[in-house]
Amino acid sequence: MTRYIIDCDPGHDDAMAILYAAKHLDVVGLTTVAGNSSLENSTRNALAICTLAGLSLPVVPGLDRALIEPPLDGAYVHGATGIDGADLPAPGYDPLDRHAVDFIIETAKAAPGELSLIAIGPLSNVALVLRLEPRLAGWLKSIAIMGGSTTSGNRTPYAEFNIVCDPEAAAIVFGAGVPLSMVGLNVTRQAGIAERHIARLREGGGRVSAVMADLLAFYLAKMQERYGTPTAAMHDPCAVIPLVKPGLITFQPLPVHIELGEGPLRGMTACDSRPMRRDHDQPGASRAANCDVAVAVAGEACVDAVID
Ligand code: BDR
Ligand code: CA
Repeated sequence: MTRYIIDCDPGHDDAMAILYAAKHLDVVGLTTVAGNSSLENSTRNALAICTLAGLSLPVVPGLDRALIEPPLDGAYVHGATGIDGADLPAPGYDPLDRHAVDFIIETAKAAPGELSLIAIGPLSNVALVLRLEPRLAGWLKSIAIMGGSTTSGNRTPYAEFNIVCDPEAAAIVFGAGVPLSMVGLNVTRQAGIAERHIARLREGGGRVSAVMADLLAFYLAKMQERYGTPTAAMHDPCAVIPLVKPGLITFQPLPVHIELGEGPLRGMTACDSRPMRRDHDQPGASRAANCDVAVAVAGEACVDAVID
């Protein structure tokens, strides 16, 4: 049985991903990272979501900044607290008094080959554990990433938020040799949360679904304000869906390069999707694939699965 740690920066869509994963998978802890908001906010929000849902998952704070990149945040989508828009309960318990990187390493070491990570924030914690404990690359079963894009970005024209928050960390993770999957904006934008999904949550009747409905109403309004779309992209749950319902998202093994240059492409996940054999060395040949990249999605079925 695979066990999972979710590395996150909650975040409205992180909250959905956490609840969906906790319902269907053996989640053994949440590690937090600065991203949508400060580390302090990520940690408090993770605890509040768990408290809301009656979960007592260990919440373990990690890095409060990127390895090199100056801080960015996602307040323009998630609000000043990182998860504005609902009356969340105060955290009912404390974070663990240890560092996320130690928690991940010790959990993986205790049962090599049984732990997978679900990474739905900047990859700072994940990169640091891989550098601190090189054996981790062999101990981890896989890393499921929400990040990147095979098409356009969101935080910049070319780069997706989680990757551009910490491009050096992403380069470390994509080069680590761990089995990786990347679910990016090209797919998550097709899994759109609409008013009707929020209405279904309100009909659910319970406190959890009522709070989630308020959160998603705020998120949808912010996304409409920023992007002018009628729906809000359900980013982070799309990293979890393939682990619960394989088949809703289709993957292709591809070489992915993380652009680290200081120009406008910084943080881009450049995917080599040329139809080319990868087992020869002709001029311009592809590198070996380093990631299973999401290329197609049954968007409505994905949103339904999570709302249900
Ligand atoms: C990603 O950035 C964050 O704002 C979301 O939580 C998601 O992880 C989407 O680009
Ligand atoms: Ca996130």
